[in-house]
Amino acid sequence: MGYTKSPIGLKSYDWSSMTLLADLNTKAITGCKKTIEARREHFWHDMNSEFDSKHFLLYLMRRSDLTLSDDFLEFACLWHLDEQNHYRGLRKINSVLYGIPESKIDEFVASRQPDFTSIDQFLIDEFSILLSIAFDEVTSTRAYRQDFPLFDSLGPRCLSVWVRNAAKDEAAHYGNAIRLLKLSHRRRFNELPALLDRIVNFETAKDFAYHSTFLFDHDTDDFSQALLASSRCAILDTLRSDL
Ligand SMILES: [Fe+2]
Ligand SMILES: [Fe+2]
Repeated sequence: MGYTKSPIGLKSYDWSSMTLLADLNTKAITGCKKTIEARREHFWHDMNSEFDSKHFLLYLMRRSDLTLSDDFLEFACLWHLDEQNHYRGLRKINSVLYGIPESKIDEFVASRQPDFTSIDQFLIDEFSILLSIAFDEVTSTRAYRQDFPLFDSLGPRCLSVWVRNAAKDEAAHYGNAIRLLKLSHRRRFNELPALLDRIVNFETAKDFAYHSTFLFDHDTDDFSQALLASSRCAILDTLRSDL
């Protein structure tokens, strides 16, 4: 579905995690307990990252040195609605899988403080911010796709639908970022290969750590070096004809 209010055809899908997962409960989970326990850290990590879209949005809005276009602001608003919907979905999933009340999760998640110091080097202007988002979103799309068999193994069909909806949203975010890059930042495309190299090097460095910033959260073994390298290639392939 196209988001019809957008003058540049930004893509957005209308669905609700809370509605989709309303009937999800512990008894309905039939998946392997060992596998579920082994994935505890990953589910928790993904949920926190989705919530952190709020940190990233507030960070952008507080950066008085940035000039952000109207198209970018519309993109960011749509994106944020989706990411918070993903957070609410993963909050329910973590609660059901690991027996933690959703109110406790909210409390914990909101108590974390973001630190953008190490990544503001990638967030110089609208162009570099969009490229960083594109890299993050294409990686998220692939990471959720990797999780399809896991979600399918848990039992309830709503979880299979949820992870596919989330992957579809992440792909739309990626597509929307690419659309804005093509529309307004084509003249800077000669900078793409070097900037993407810097991002991949940053995320694969030994001392790389995630600080609740939403962006650059690829610090678990879900995000292999090959996956990050393939995200870089995907962006360059998509924009190759414009390079
Ligand atoms: Fe998301
Ligand atoms: Fe996303």
